[in-house]
Amino acid sequence: MKAEHNELITRIGPGTPCGDLMRSYWQPVALLDEFNPLLDPRMEHRPVKAVRLMGQDLVLFKDAQGRFGLLDRDCPHRGADLSFGRREDTGLRCPFHGWKFDVNGKCLETPAEPTGSKLCERVQQRSYPLVEKCGTLFAWMGPVGSTPPPFPAFDCFVAPNTHTFAFKGLWNCNWLQAFEVGIDPAHPSFLHVFFKDESLDEAYGRQFRGASAGAVDGERWPMTRIMREFNQPEITAEATPYGMRLTALRKMDEKLTHVRVTNSIFPHTFVIPLSETITITQMHVPVDDTHTYWYSFFTSFAGPVDKEAMRNQRLRANPAPDYLPRSGRHNSWGFNAEEQQSTTYLGMGEDDINVHDQWAVESMGQIADRTREHLGTSDKAIMANRRVLLKAIETVQAGGTAPGMADPALTAAMQGPDTVDGIAPAAEWDKFWRDTAAAKRAGAPWMANEQARSPA
Ligand code: FES
Ligand SMILES: [Fe+2]
Repeated sequence: MKAEHNELITRIGPGTPCGDLMRSYWQPVALLDEFNPLLDPRMEHRPVKAVRLMGQDLVLFKDAQGRFGLLDRDCPHRGADLSFGRREDTGLRCPFHGWKFDVNGKCLETPAEPTGSKLCERVQQRSYPLVEKCGTLFAWMGPVGSTPPPFPAFDCFVAPNTHTFAFKGLWNCNWLQAFEVGIDPAHPSFLHVFFKDESLDEAYGRQFRGASAGAVDGERWPMTRIMREFNQPEITAEATPYGMRLTALRKMDEKLTHVRVTNSIFPHTFVIPLSETITITQMHVPVDDTHTYWYSFFTSFAGPVDKEAMRNQRLRANPAPDYLPRSGRHNSWGFNAEEQQSTTYLGMGEDDINVHDQWAVESMGQIADRTREHLGTSDKAIMANRRVLLKAIETVQAGGTAPGMADPALTAAMQGPDTVDGIAPAAEWDKFWRDTAAAKRAGAPWMANEQARSPA
């Protein structure tokens, strides 16, 4: 890839071509958990957070009526930082001269001005629309006055609160390399390999510890075993209204083929199976050019999600309130050479495989130098996505509509998307995964009939 193309597809600040593209999509800005006083006691009396999104400094706060507001952080008077503001019942007050703003950025008071002053009426702080979905606040950062697209009926957005759980964590690298791990179906056969399998009873909430659907001679196989023993997947990437469906086939023997179906939702989201009944939808939202929050939405197609178990498993590696990882370049991501010899392919622990991906994406450097890569057949989904990304940037620069979720004309065509990790009869792997996905969909207690009938 040419250096200028790498610049074009990675830089997302205001006014950049890729930044304009990114601002065509709803972006997650905070977990509702971040405002829960049980998880962050400061939120009891002062629900105010400084946030950074796509290179912009913002302040997110909740008023006494429970309404959230997302405003530019620099006070429109003389630029002081509103994230230090006094939170009052009806808004946020700048501590410099007491100007006060409501959740829509409307100036309510300029108390140092003479009585009768009309200055306040002429001041409007930029505010960004927010929508709450899946335990997460999403922001619309598109141009002032633009109409955001509707949310498609993806499973994570339509499942009830009881059947979803959201979590996040920070990676110190550019958004695109963070995302490109998720559309790389070859890497789990290396990066995430454990030399021994665990009991399937311990699998709840843990990636790759669950069983693949189906069986080998009546025996249930953990995904770890498949990934370890069959490491040359045949990958296909098929265009869909939302992005791409990725199919990775691992031929096991003459009779059996392992099939893993995952999805890429343009521009930065993947959907993969966690287990036979839970999917992970993971977004990679740019904080700025060199930092990225991943947001994971877990959706259960069976019983309610055990949120406390899921949260506690993950808080160990990414503690609240800022969800910064304990591991990183500063401590070599917890690398242990002895473990690499004896227990895991990578040597960075078995507990949280997220740190494996974190190492992969952060060790490339803050913005990966794509001029030096040597891509192979197993990188075909990554190459396909880069082509779509370059074209989408061009489309938006020419005044067109960004693809996928940004295009209201496609909203109705977007559902699911389905994921499967299963052991199929070799001759019928296609039917197998579709039947398995349909059965999972039909079994979800929250699924509307319409969606159960027409998997994406
Ligand atoms: S800078 Fe905020 S009120 Fe003066
Ligand atoms: Fe991974």
